Amino acid sequence: MATRRDFIKTTAGVGAGAALGAFPRSLEGAPNVIVRRVTPTCVASGNGLAAVSRAIEELAGGASTIEAVVRGVNLVEEDPNDSSVGYGGLPNADGVVQLDSSLMHGPTRGAGAVAAIEGIKRPSLVALDVMRYTDHHLLVGEGAQRFAKSMGHPIEDLLTESARQRWIEWRARLSDSDDYLTPAESAERIGQPYRRPGDFGDGLLDSHDGYRPQGTINCDIVDVNGDLSSVTTTSGLAYKIPGRVGDSPIIGAGQFCDNDVGAAGSTGRGEAVIKTCGSHTVVEYMRQGMHPKDACLEALRRIVHVTVEERLLGEDGRPSFNVNYYAVNKNGEYGGAAIYSGARFAVSVDGDSRLEDSAYVFQRA
Ligand code: GLY
Repeated sequence: MATRRDFIKTTAGVGAGAALGAFPRSLEGAPNVIVRRVTPTCVASGNGLAAVSRAIEELAGGASTIEAVVRGVNLVEEDPNDSSVGYGGLPNADGVVQLDSSLMHGPTRGAGAVAAIEGIKRPSLVALDVMRYTDHHLLVGEGAQRFAKSMGHPIEDLLTESARQRWIEWRARLSDSDDYLTPAESAERIGQPYRRPGDFGDGLLDSHDGYRPQGTINCDIVDVNGDLSSVTTTSGLAYKIPGRVGDSPIIGAGQFCDNDVGAAGSTGRGEAVIKTCGSHTVVEYMRQGMHPKDACLEALRRIVHVTVEERLLGEDGRPSFNVNYYAVNKNGEYGGAAIYSGARFAVSVDGDSRLEDSAYVFQRA
């Protein structure tokens, strides 16, 4: 006897607009199947407002879930003004932009990833090619670039002038005892006004002056049939040790998708996410029945619990870094959460794209 699969537990206030409807394509003709349509829903990190809109538009235009999210994040990868992703991303300690990306396609259980790839503006497209055209899941470094070239991706210089200037200043401020002049010293030499350290007009302060950028974009989607996909793409930790790979290209860490349950992804301190298999953990909590928001919070509490290194703790004993999770389940329920209050995430549902406040573990002091 056929299994009765109920794709939606209609929950008040969630997956607005979900309605009884046609069988999903994969189950058409199957006997005794009761399926409700899901309201297509896309979530992303706070820098992904345009991405979620694009992804939902792509779905409406007939794209698959994986094509939709990849085209969404491509917008951010191509944007020279986002210094945490793709072109314009901040470089490693050597001044070289190294990018990471991974993705999963729920219906085919496909996965692809690239890590520490250089010269490729949209690493998510290469991750997609790894998934589609190889028997592997992860290619790294030079091999990943050679594969990308073989697939027709252009090799380009990704370091924008603004990112180069930030890296030059970071390098000069690393030490008082090397031969690089600090911004104040060089301003004096060239007779120009000294610019406030780390002020690049975008509210971000660079290393040694405060915040060290560690942005990323994650994007997760569910379509009308309850099919899911996820993608994460990043330039990783600014000024990282060359070859450092964060959570974003690690399947199960920076993103994870199980077509039976949901999809999730992360931004923030990648090392904390890797150590806790973060996005996989979020999906497993959803499998146990948790709402996506609660699943994100529980996975964050796991990070807080295992963060014991003093160098990573503030005076209050709490992590001195932030991590954000984003998740959507097969029913179209969604959520986002961060260790600290003040974070936002992007969502597009029912024709409306907006930023929503993330839930949080700790109120920021
Ligand atoms: N979450 C991005 C990174 O740590 O590289």
